[in-house]
Amino acid sequence: MSEASNSAASREAALLGDAAQYSFRARMDKKTNEGPVFERGKDSVVWDVTGKEYLDFNSGQMCSALGHNHPIITAAIKGACDTLLHAHSSHYNVKEIELASRLGQIMPKPLQKSLFGESGADANEMAMMIARKYTGGFEIASPHISFHGLSDATRAVTFSGWHAGHGHLPGGTYAIVAPYCYRCPLNQTFPSCKFACLKVSFDLLDAQTTGKPAAVITEPLFSAGGVIEPPPGWLKELQQLCHQRDMLLIVDEEQTGLGKLGQMFGFESEGIVPDIVTVAKHFGGGVGISAVTTTAEIEDKVVREGYAATHSHANDPLICAAGTASLDVIAQDNVIDRARRIGAHMRARLEALQQRYEMIGDVRGRGQLTGVELVRDRQGKEPATDEGRAIGKYCFDNGLIFSLRRGGSVLRFVPPATTTPDQIDAAMDLIGKAIEQTAPKRNITPGASFN
Ligand SMILES: Cc1ncc(COP(=O)(O)O)c(C=O)c1O
Repeated sequence: MSEASNSAASREAALLGDAAQYSFRARMDKKTNEGPVFERGKDSVVWDVTGKEYLDFNSGQMCSALGHNHPIITAAIKGACDTLLHAHSSHYNVKEIELASRLGQIMPKPLQKSLFGESGADANEMAMMIARKYTGGFEIASPHISFHGLSDATRAVTFSGWHAGHGHLPGGTYAIVAPYCYRCPLNQTFPSCKFACLKVSFDLLDAQTTGKPAAVITEPLFSAGGVIEPPPGWLKELQQLCHQRDMLLIVDEEQTGLGKLGQMFGFESEGIVPDIVTVAKHFGGGVGISAVTTTAEIEDKVVREGYAATHSHANDPLICAAGTASLDVIAQDNVIDRARRIGAHMRARLEALQQRYEMIGDVRGRGQLTGVELVRDRQGKEPATDEGRAIGKYCFDNGLIFSLRRGGSVLRFVPPATTTPDQIDAAMDLIGKAIEQTAPKRNITPGASFN
C-alpha cells in the first residue's frame, strides 16, 4: 500500500471509529458502521474519503437529481451568504417571495399559493393539516405501497414499511389498495379490472369512516414502494372518488415532480389538477427545502380559520434562493428533455438484459426514475430478494450506487440529469456483469426457464 492510500485508509478508519461512538444509527436502509464515508461530489459522480469514485445512480438520496454541486445552485447559496441567510418567518423576505412566484407560475392553475418547509415529511404534514382544516374532517388514506415521510404524522400514511416498532401512530389514517398491476393484490388484470382496487378501497373507507374524511394522499408513481406505475386513468378516478366524498386529493410529487419524470409533474399525464401538491427532494438542488402549493380558495379559507404552520428556517433566504436556482437549472439545462433521454436509454439497455435473463421480471419507470423487478421465475414471480441484494452489493463494491426496494427484489435507479450516455452504458454493463456473477445459473435464453 502506498503512503497516500495508507493515510486515506487510516483517515476512513478514524472517521468510522468516531461514527461508531457518536452517530445515532437511525438510517433507513443500513444500521452497520462500515464505510464508505463520502466527501465530494460533481455531476453524477461522488468520491469517498479514500478517493474511491462512485457513479451515483441514486442522486444522493434523490436530492441531487439535477447533478451534484450544480454551479447554479452553489452560486445561489454563495449569493445568500453575501446578503441574508436567515429571516423571521412572520416577515416576508425577497427570496421567499421570488420562490413562491416562480413555483406559482410552474404549477397548473388554479394552484398558486405556496408555503415552504425543510423536508418532504414536513410539507406532507402541512398538506394534510390544510386538508383537515379545509374539510373539517381528519381521516386520511393512502395506497398501501406509499411513502410520505418518517415524522409521526407522515409515517402514519407511509405503508411501504417503517411501521414496525413505531406505535402508537396518530389515528384516523387508512391504507387503500395500491394499483400494483405487476402483482395485483386482487388478482385482476388492467383494464378489465375497471379499477377494482379503487372500488374495494372506497367500499372499505366508506365502511370505516366516522363521517369525517379529509383527504387521500398519494404519489403519482410509487417510488420507495418499488417504482410502481399506476395504470392510466387511476389518478383521475381516484380524484373523482375523493371529490364525491368532499375529500381533497393531495399529490405528493416530492420524488416525482419538477422534471425528473420527463414532465414537470407526474400528475400531468392524467390530465388532472390535484387540490394540493407537495414538492421536495431535488427542489433546492441538494439543499433541504420543500413546498406545499394549493389554490387561493383553499388558502384563504384555512387562513381565515386560523391555520398557522412554519419552522424556524422554512422561509430562510438561503434555502429559498437554492429553491429558485433549482427551477433555473430545470429550465436552463432542459432537465425534462434530459430526463426523457436518460430514461429511454436506461430502459432500452435494461430491456435488452431482460431478453437474456429470466430473473428480470419487469422494467418500468418514467424519465430518470427506473425500476427493475427481479423474480425467481416469471410464472410464479417469487421475489428474488437475496439475488437483488447480491447484485446491489456487487455493483456498490464496483463503484455503482443505486437503491434496493421491496426487500431487495426491486433495483431502483435515479441517475442525475447530468448523466452521460457513456455513464449509463458503464452502469448497465456492470448490472449485466453483476447478474452473471451473482446468479450464473439463471442466465438463460429467451423463453427458457431456470435450470
Ligand atoms: C414520495 C416521498 N414523499 C416524502 C418523502 C419524505 O421526504 P423527507 O425524507 O425529505 O422527509 C420521500 C422521501 O423519500 C418521498 O419519496
